[in-house]
Amino acid sequence: MDVQRIGVVGLGAMGAGIAQVATEAGFDVVGREVTADLGDAATARIGHFLTRKVEKGQRTEEERAAAMSRLTTTTDLSGLADCDLVVEAIVEELGAKRELFEELERVCRPDAVLATNTSALSVTEIAAATTSPERVVGMHFFNPAPLMPLVEVVRAELSSDDAVATALGVVERLGKVAVPCHDTPGFVVNRILIPLLNDCVRALDEARVTPEALDAAMTNGAGWPMGPCTLVDLVGIDVHVHASEALYEKLREPRMAPPPRLVAMRNAGLLGRKSGRGFYTYT
Ligand SMILES: NC(=O)c1ccc[n+]([C@@H]2O[C@H](COP(=O)([O-])OP(=O)(O)OC[C@H]3O[C@@H](n4cnc5c(N)ncnc54)[C@H](O)[C@@H]3O)[C@@H](O)[C@H]2O)c1
Repeated sequence: MDVQRIGVVGLGAMGAGIAQVATEAGFDVVGREVTADLGDAATARIGHFLTRKVEKGQRTEEERAAAMSRLTTTTDLSGLADCDLVVEAIVEELGAKRELFEELERVCRPDAVLATNTSALSVTEIAAATTSPERVVGMHFFNPAPLMPLVEVVRAELSSDDAVATALGVVERLGKVAVPCHDTPGFVVNRILIPLLNDCVRALDEARVTPEALDAAMTNGAGWPMGPCTLVDLVGIDVHVHASEALYEKLREPRMAPPPRLVAMRNAGLLGRKSGRGFYTYT
């Protein structure tokens, strides 16, 4: 399908980033939030990021203005009625996502493709909330969406070839790198990265090294672009623990389970960069 209008549901960390890349790529974008204030705040954040791009010479003022003019927000789901593709980026809860997809099926055109940005839930289970699961796919962007090139395009059990092709075409027009994959827990990157990061945290205690030393080991010895403690702080310790629990629940592999040290940090509110303190302290 030739996509021109994209709906984004949930304009939090991921949804606002997805809306930004879509409007920058020339799509008309309508974002849906639960309150007008949240929609306005997301629009302001996107405007701020685009202004910074103009200041850095990465965009012209005209491009910024054109991108902002293609972006609207609504609190009313029926505002997505004429979208060709809707990307859902609300809270990571199966019940909330299934309810939303049921509603999306009611308000969207029958040929619209419905995508979820879930990190660790089953796309197939989300699709099963609709009577047209063939048009549901996963489009798993990485955080921050404007900067990270990868999008995993996830084929659920009943996704149609057309729906997958539409998602792949949009990823290409966004200038991102698509990796098509099947609907398996964690897809590709998180399936590998989450247990690996959990091992890194366990090694902290077993080898009795500091976060600084562990990061130095992995950047200098394994060529990682950033150390594991820096990466977990950036992802958010709460987000990482949540994804670990979800993968453990599905795969029952001990390495998937979040290390107690991370759970304790999450419970204490040490969430990493966003809370000012995690393995490191941020000012
Ligand atoms: N944060 C990450 O690193 C990351 C990376 C990839 C994928 N994801 C996935 O993306 C999704 C969103 O994550 P996030 O980090 O952006 O969360 P977030 O909490 O920052 O944003 C969620 C937003 O959705 C809004 N919302 C909730 N219910 C809604 C509804 N029914 N309609 C419209 N808006 C609604 C909330 O008001 C909030 O602004 C989750 O499924 C998450 O697993 C997150």
